[in-house]
Amino acid sequence: AAPLRVLGIESSCDETGIALVELPDGVAGTQPAALLAHALHSQIDMHQAYGGVVPELASRDHIRRIVPLLRQTLAEAGQALDAVDVIAYTRGPGLAGALLVGAGMACALGLALGRPVLGVHHLEGHLLSPFLSADPPQFPFVALLVSGGHTQLMRVDGVGAYTLMGETIDDAAGEAFDKSAKMLGLGYPGGPALAALATQGDPKAFALPRPLLRGTELDFSFAGLKTAVWTQQKKLEAAGTFDATRQADLAASTQAAIVDVLVAKSMLALKATGLDRLVVAGGVGANRELRRQLDAQCQRRRVRVHYPELHLCTDNGAMIALAGAMRLRSGRSQPTTDFHFDVLPR
Ligand code: KG4
Ligand code: ZN
Repeated sequence: AAPLRVLGIESSCDETGIALVELPDGVAGTQPAALLAHALHSQIDMHQAYGGVVPELASRDHIRRIVPLLRQTLAEAGQALDAVDVIAYTRGPGLAGALLVGAGMACALGLALGRPVLGVHHLEGHLLSPFLSADPPQFPFVALLVSGGHTQLMRVDGVGAYTLMGETIDDAAGEAFDKSAKMLGLGYPGGPALAALATQGDPKAFALPRPLLRGTELDFSFAGLKTAVWTQQKKLEAAGTFDATRQADLAASTQAAIVDVLVAKSMLALKATGLDRLVVAGGVGANRELRRQLDAQCQRRRVRVHYPELHLCTDNGAMIALAGAMRLRSGRSQPTTDFHFDVLPR
């Protein structure tokens, strides 16, 4: 069968991503999807001065970047625009104005090329992103989805067959990293900076809370952590002992608290399902300490653990193109030429 090429457009937050993914033997085939090319622009530098994402600036920058990134992707793939068969775009969740840029682009391209579009759930993109790695997972598996906006444990039996097992009742894991990092003066988004500083600190220096860690509870709560970090920092400052060493200790202790909870609950979810495969996805999945501890625990339990490639952990167009392709192949979604232009911010 002829190959099917899916263009992916991601613009839900502060990254503009475009990618071209191919199903080599078409939608009815069995060969795994291949990433032909992808291009990404991160707005982090632009938002850093404000300590967080400014929605209006994000939308404007997506508009500025999206066509050049599309051109770059097609050039890298050695394909012309009319090689695109279906256009997948992030329909939500995310910032409404930012999402509209991607949806608008998708619909405009679809209309001009006479090709259908498919709205994709951002989290499904993250969830399926490990299928682009050299050693992709097999269904069924437990998924730990840890991003800036979400923290979820899911049982995944196939494309679109997702059972939510637990989720955060307040802050997401990425938010816990970012808010703690901000208090420690590490800028935005502070997750990677906090992780880097943590390598120089003692993770046992401060006993920070690990909420909902008793019993078999699979929900998460991270809101208390930032208060505890704040209180600890104020104490040190009042005592005049808050120096670079203590800052690194506090970073390491914060990371340890977050990682402990994520690892423990992932193990609980594996036990509850009896499954022996774990997939980790989302921006926090790039965290080295999380990977180290998950690897160790999974090895002991003879569980295979899969991660997306490091550069595909945070937001990107490749995961949206892939999720679109996999949904089409699964028959769970049909693309449409009825260009609704709809986004679902929440
Ligand atoms: O998945 P993502 O790119 O965006 C959302 O969909 O939210 O995740 C971004 C989040 C941010 O909170 C960022 O601080 C966090 O992932 N993050 C990390 C690391 N890399 C990114 N957190 C801890 N350690 C890292 N290495
Ligand atoms: Zn994301």
